[in-house]
Amino acid sequence: PPLQEILNLHDFEAIGRQIMPEKAWAYYSSAADDEITNRENHAAYQRIWFRPRIMRNMTTVDFSSSILGQKTSMPIYISATALGKLGHPDGELNLTRAAAKHGIIQMIPTLASCSFDEIVDAAQPGQTQFLQLYVNKDREITKRIVQHAEKRGVKGLFITVDAPQLGRREKDMRMKFDAESDPSEVSKSGSDKVDRSQGAARAISSFIDPGLQWSDLPWFKSITKMPLILKGVQCWEDAQEAYDQGLAGVVLSNHGGRQLDFARSGVEVLTEVVKHLGEQRGLTFPNEKFQLYVDGGVRRATDVLKAVALGATAVGIGRPFIYAFSSYGAEGVDQALTILRDEFEMNMRLLGAKTIKDVVPAMVDASNIGLH
Ligand code: FNR
Repeated sequence: PPLQEILNLHDFEAIGRQIMPEKAWAYYSSAADDEITNRENHAAYQRIWFRPRIMRNMTTVDFSSSILGQKTSMPIYISATALGKLGHPDGELNLTRAAAKHGIIQMIPTLASCSFDEIVDAAQPGQTQFLQLYVNKDREITKRIVQHAEKRGVKGLFITVDAPQLGRREKDMRMKFDAESDPSEVSKSGSDKVDRSQGAARAISSFIDPGLQWSDLPWFKSITKMPLILKGVQCWEDAQEAYDQGLAGVVLSNHGGRQLDFARSGVEVLTEVVKHLGEQRGLTFPNEKFQLYVDGGVRRATDVLKAVALGATAVGIGRPFIYAFSSYGAEGVDQALTILRDEFEMNMRLLGAKTIKDVVPAMVDASNIGLH
């Protein structure tokens, strides 16, 4: 269908499923085990309700914001998703181009199909990009990646901490992964070492260090000045440890339901982190010094506004953008961001919030999630 007929982010999934290569669909859509967490990521938002305010002169609204001190036109960012060329020959560049047009930040994955430099080169002057890092068993390789990224102007390092081993994504495992299905840097680089018999995820992940631990963090701080964020924190105790170690923030995430099945949704974890770090460390959120991000299951501006009301600085979105470019290239991602922008404008008006700062805890009823 023509792009103009796409009305929301769910539509890209329905279309992507019909037209993208089977292997791409299996890798992109799959989640761990029985996919209960993947389902819960959506369901959790459906348990949160709004308490809108009225009569506040909603002639104009402004939903621009900032992430790690970098400007963004909306409190969202494009989260890292590997293997963009499975769905479209331009891979991650589709995201870079649309992000530039909308003033949105792209998180570049370690396992991008395009090379890191290609993705940075495709950015416009002043466009912000972050890097998602899978930590290599060979720390010299990791050091090289990190320092190169910093030199190329990357503004934040998101270290993925929820994947000492990749989850069991059975839809993906049923597919054989070969260089033909992903003509990318990733599949070329590991060609002699990888097991290609069990899907894309298993084929590309063997270098990730399962030995990563808290005591490694000072080393990361010693090799870069970029703000460090842990991606994949799932309880307040670990969020507090990250704060105590002086990190810039955490992403409360279950990796789009692709790692531990029965992990809770990010927005549910958010409520406990805000409560406990308030009690234990006197923090209030959103907080400039220690920022909370959430991802997983976000498909509407209303989802984003709920997380922001509960204390998130911004929210990451993964699958909708890869479904969008798999079907329509960069124009699809452009349309997805336009849809979100329009949703923000309308829902901020209906909520009675003129700016993101006006989106406060009292605007939601979250009594059905979090701590009781
Ligand atoms: C991911 N995600 C991910 N995360 C990460 O840290 N490194 C990675 O390489 C990938 N790769 C990846 C591939 C695909 C196909 C998906 C769907 C996801 C997780 C991603 O950053 C994010 O946490 C989730 O995608 C958020 O959930 P939604 O928005 O997809 O529901």
